[in-house]
Amino acid sequence: MAIIGTSSFAQNAPTIIPIETRQNVLVLQTDKENHLGITYFGKKLSQAAEYKLIPSQSRQRDGNAGIYNSAYTPAGTWNVSEPALQLTHGDGNKSLDLVYVSHNKAKENDNVSVTSIVLKDPVYAVEVTLFYKTYFQENVVEQWSVIKSEEKKPITLEKYASANLYFIAKDYYLTHYNGTWAKEMNPEEELLTAGIRVLDSKLGTRANLYQPPTFSLSFDKPATENEGKVLLATLAWSGNFKMEFEVDSYHNLRLIAGINPYSSEYPLASKQEFKTPSFIYTFSENGKGEASRNLHNWARKYRILDGEGTRMTLLNNWEATYFDFNEAKLSELFKDGKKLGVDLFLLDDGWFANKYPRNSDGAGLGDWQENVKKLPNGIGYLVKEAQKTGIKFGIWVEPEMVNPKSELYEKHPDWVIKQPQRPEHYMRNQLPLDLSNPEVQDFVYGILDKLFTENPDIAYIKWDCNATTFNPYSAYLEKNKHAQSKLFVDYVKGLYKVLEKLRAKYPKVPMMLCSGGGGRVDYEALKYFTEFWPSDNTDPLERIFMQWEYSYFFPSIALSAHVTDWGKQPLKFRTDVAMMGRLGYDIVVSHLNEKDLQFSQQAVVNYNAVKDIIFQGDLFRLVDPKKNDYAALMYATKSKSKAILFSYLVGNRNGAGSDTPIRLEGLDASKNYKVRELNLYPGTKSAIKEDQVYSGEYLMTAGFNPVVNARRTSVVLEIEAM
Ligand code: DGJ
Repeated sequence: MAIIGTSSFAQNAPTIIPIETRQNVLVLQTDKENHLGITYFGKKLSQAAEYKLIPSQSRQRDGNAGIYNSAYTPAGTWNVSEPALQLTHGDGNKSLDLVYVSHNKAKENDNVSVTSIVLKDPVYAVEVTLFYKTYFQENVVEQWSVIKSEEKKPITLEKYASANLYFIAKDYYLTHYNGTWAKEMNPEEELLTAGIRVLDSKLGTRANLYQPPTFSLSFDKPATENEGKVLLATLAWSGNFKMEFEVDSYHNLRLIAGINPYSSEYPLASKQEFKTPSFIYTFSENGKGEASRNLHNWARKYRILDGEGTRMTLLNNWEATYFDFNEAKLSELFKDGKKLGVDLFLLDDGWFANKYPRNSDGAGLGDWQENVKKLPNGIGYLVKEAQKTGIKFGIWVEPEMVNPKSELYEKHPDWVIKQPQRPEHYMRNQLPLDLSNPEVQDFVYGILDKLFTENPDIAYIKWDCNATTFNPYSAYLEKNKHAQSKLFVDYVKGLYKVLEKLRAKYPKVPMMLCSGGGGRVDYEALKYFTEFWPSDNTDPLERIFMQWEYSYFFPSIALSAHVTDWGKQPLKFRTDVAMMGRLGYDIVVSHLNEKDLQFSQQAVVNYNAVKDIIFQGDLFRLVDPKKNDYAALMYATKSKSKAILFSYLVGNRNGAGSDTPIRLEGLDASKNYKVRELNLYPGTKSAIKEDQVYSGEYLMTAGFNPVVNARRTSVVLEIEAM
């Protein structure tokens, strides 16, 4: 790694560091005192030499109030605005200054580079390295920082953000998401006004129950799908997060994002390093559509486990049986899965614990031995039975949690997160185990390792996490004289250690990241998981809206979507909605009438034929269900030779539906296409003429009407070049 810029503490010539992707640039520049600021963020200039013309501080400097555009704002010296890094030195002093020392750019390959910038405190032995990893083609930046102290005594990190950005625009529109169980991903867009707007979580585990660490930020005016300047961003961290949006007195915007400092002061011994999680973002001048395709391209290629692979269809028994099953019942369900045509049977909650059997969510969690009454012949027998039926076998676990009514709790009360002197407080009758404790990490790893060792043919894992952290306290940290304030951070680090070890031994087994629905959806966890469970709410009408919002940040290959009995819509509608993700079923197949079964069998065949387009294609959101009485979106292959269009009726007013053509996107204007309807319910006829040929230009300019209406409430079209 060549050092391409260095400077002593007192240098006048500015150092300019452009962090470039194919379309965008973040320009960093030192000022006269060698403080590093952000002078520009946005579309790349064609002449890089002109970055030096951008004034470093003229608009951002206030004589008394410090520099506003800092690339990593320190606390306790010249800066009086919200800091990115705040700490207490070994001698108790709380001041910090950070000046530029050097930077270098290391190329990992033709597409990926990492620029690292070293900043140092001129007085105390504290060093911060800012990292900007760029994915050039995808226009994605992954940013984190590493904080290091060489002071003799330990320092305490009080706030340690991953990223500090600075934007200059006319106005800022923030879209963020709120929700709770079964009501995930409700967007709200707001104009940011002076002061600080905070998005955060303090829940510890199931940290995204009320809010995910994702947002979009439009500049000047609200961005639409195809117009406007917009940043899509997310923090890759499965715990507490905090994102601060501060519109300052110049109407510029400072963004600070990272681990939530709430109750999380982190001691750092001499020569130790603290690496913050990654803040991941992309920017587009052409609206949210392009920005989200940037993220999808990046996530599939570089982040989600097996993101460029494929996914299996499955039959899950949760809603079909809940806790009430036995071997005979399951064997019947294997046959049902086979009849349906799915690849895999997924056995959900309720298969374990004996002293306190897991017959409800009130007992047994933590005791990971097969329940001998329900499964006298163990998991091994089930795997074989499933295989005999011609279907793969997957299994549910919730390894981070414990019911007080369990042998695990009786044996290891010190492994449980709870306050020793206070009454316990539960969510879903359970408590998190203390993953800051290495023994607990081994226990959690051991649950999965035992399952795989004894049953190497287990083909899928659903990893659940159903409780937030109340009464945070770790007996382990106490016993080892560590600060309790490390718990929230060390829990997440402990979780990643387990997942890392698991993936080292079992790199390929698909795993669903489930947290009672969207309680844990982030890009650090998705390094280890192939998909996530967006919500327990599988009412297809609700899912259209939720999946729409998730789709800004996550590609369809990562989104599990099941056909269930939620909602009032017909089976076709439920199926057509679930097809927008990794398709699964959670229904009693034997209750389907003949036509429904026939429809479903054909739908699985159809899905298998087109799922690669949905997983790997470019997504275009065409008609927004929030603003219309129907929704339409399409996936097109990169070669523009095939596309799948989904449209759904979401309103029921008289005449609701697609009465005008929709302009399609992602096709080749010069190619000719035919349009064919998929998933027709037996006995119905399509309103679409299959033999008509359309040019790509026609479909994208004059448009095409899928004819979705009260009689055809969901329509799936295959568009294929001839
Ligand atoms: C919550 C999950 O979201 C459900 O799908 C199911 O697995 C239950 N937990 C089982 O307890």
